[in-house]
Amino acid sequence: MEIIIFDTQKELDAYAADLLVNTAGEKPDAVLGLATGSTPIGIYDKIVERYNEKKISFAGVTTFNLDEYVGLRQENEQSYAYYMQKHLFSHIDILAENTHLPNGMAEDIEAECARYDEMLEARPVDIQLLGLGHNGHIGFNEPDVNLSGGTHAVQLKAETREANARFFASMNEVPSYAITMGVGSILKANTILMAVRGADKAGIVKEALTGPITTNVPASLLQTHARVIVLLDREAGRMI
Ligand code: GLP
Repeated sequence: MEIIIFDTQKELDAYAADLLVNTAGEKPDAVLGLATGSTPIGIYDKIVERYNEKKISFAGVTTFNLDEYVGLRQENEQSYAYYMQKHLFSHIDILAENTHLPNGMAEDIEAECARYDEMLEARPVDIQLLGLGHNGHIGFNEPDVNLSGGTHAVQLKAETREANARFFASMNEVPSYAITMGVGSILKANTILMAVRGADKAGIVKEALTGPITTNVPASLLQTHARVIVLLDREAGRMI
């Protein structure tokens, strides 16, 4: 595991963006695994900047997002589909049919999860961007006695709904369920790029990276992966 601590958010964002851009530069039909939350926004801004500098085309690139809320339409500003359009897809030349997120409006959620896994199986992820939840979740894989390998529906923990309530008008509007890639699917990516910032994540960063490997801290399973790059700002890395 490679851990890099940055003095500024801008440096972290640029480093992560360049890793993703370079992957697409070296392999025009690259498959990028993407994440949401507040942490990747600066990274996506930087990718758009690189794109506008004409350094890269995404015309042959495929993307898979980690997760989506159940019950939010794509037009809902809080959906991850909307987030991806807003922060990345609408600014670059990626083809809509090559961008994938779980469909949280699917009538048959189980079938939707199977469909997503089939697509992932066919197009393995070259590099997977990840954030880290305060309780150690990755994607929406919440701490539990068991974790699922493949894509599945999950009931969100109260602390996760509270953490994400800042994006919604009220707590009542925060969905209770989500569809997420499983930890097994995440670990299949060739390279994993986890970006974490903020003092409030310092404790969980330490647990995830240096504590025991346990399903109670889903991110600790990253310790079993051969190629993980962790990007931290000073605050998130202060206990490392
Ligand atoms: C959500 C997402 C995760 C993300 C986490 C942390 O729960 N499902 O993929 O890593 O938030 O988000 P933030 O970067 O806003 O702290």
